[in-house]
Amino acid sequence: MNIVLLGPPGAGKGTQASVLSQEYGFLHISTGDMLREAVKKGTPVGKQAKAYMDKGELVPDNIVINIVTERISQKDANCGFLLDGFPRNKKQADQFDQALSKKDKKIDMVLYFKTSPEVSIKRLSGRRVCANCGANFHIETMPAKIKGTCDYCHGPLVHRKDDQRETVENRLVVYKKETKYLIGYYEDKGILKEVSGDFDVEKLFEEIKKLFAKEGLRGAG
Ligand code: AP5
Repeated sequence: MNIVLLGPPGAGKGTQASVLSQEYGFLHISTGDMLREAVKKGTPVGKQAKAYMDKGELVPDNIVINIVTERISQKDANCGFLLDGFPRNKKQADQFDQALSKKDKKIDMVLYFKTSPEVSIKRLSGRRVCANCGANFHIETMPAKIKGTCDYCHGPLVHRKDDQRETVENRLVVYKKETKYLIGYYEDKGILKEVSGDFDVEKLFEEIKKLFAKEGLRGAG
């Protein structure tokens, strides 16, 4: 099964994608993570993407469409993938549908995390990420065991540059202008399912598991 996680910045898409991929064996594809990795490595894609990401703007469509299309062509995507942060506008959605259909694949479900702007802002202002392995924490809801240190690799925890208040506000504007449109787009295709992104991590995970069970998906636990 191929699933898209749709929702505003801070909706909890990345957090749920991690636990869902462990539980159901999906390949987790995050365009944000792939782009941040490219920036870190200083690749040509990273060099082009950096300025857009720092401002909270969308990276040009051709760049992200190429990296996602290339990623889903790899063997490990054949057992189903969870797309986190893509598509983000009509052009990306249309072109991705076309690319999938050439490979006899399709998006089976779009999970929309309906989330209030206040919750998004609170989550992103408190998010801390490991500069080394990229693991996510939150100073209130998911604190690290040792303040400022990653639980997994002991790397330093940092506040993402695009999680600063002004940039978060711009990311929410961009979401409203470009990405919100996709709710109706996938609703019309009959594949949109809604959950509340405002729930805490465990409650949201339970809600998604119930929804997946109705679709015949069984997890490990
Ligand atoms: P990206 O990394 O995709 O950022 P985003 O979509 O804005 O999503 P976030 O990672 O901020 O939020 P999330 O919903 O994953 O929440 P998370 O689980 O981390 O994109 C970054 C940039 O890359 C973009 O601005 C753009 O420039 C570029 N880009 C990426 N994709 C692109 C595309 N397709 N096209 C063009 N450009 C693209 O959680 C957030 C925090 O809340 C964490 O601290 C977490 O611990 C906490 N938390 C999570 N869930 C809960 C919960 N249920 N309750 C309480 N706390 C929670």
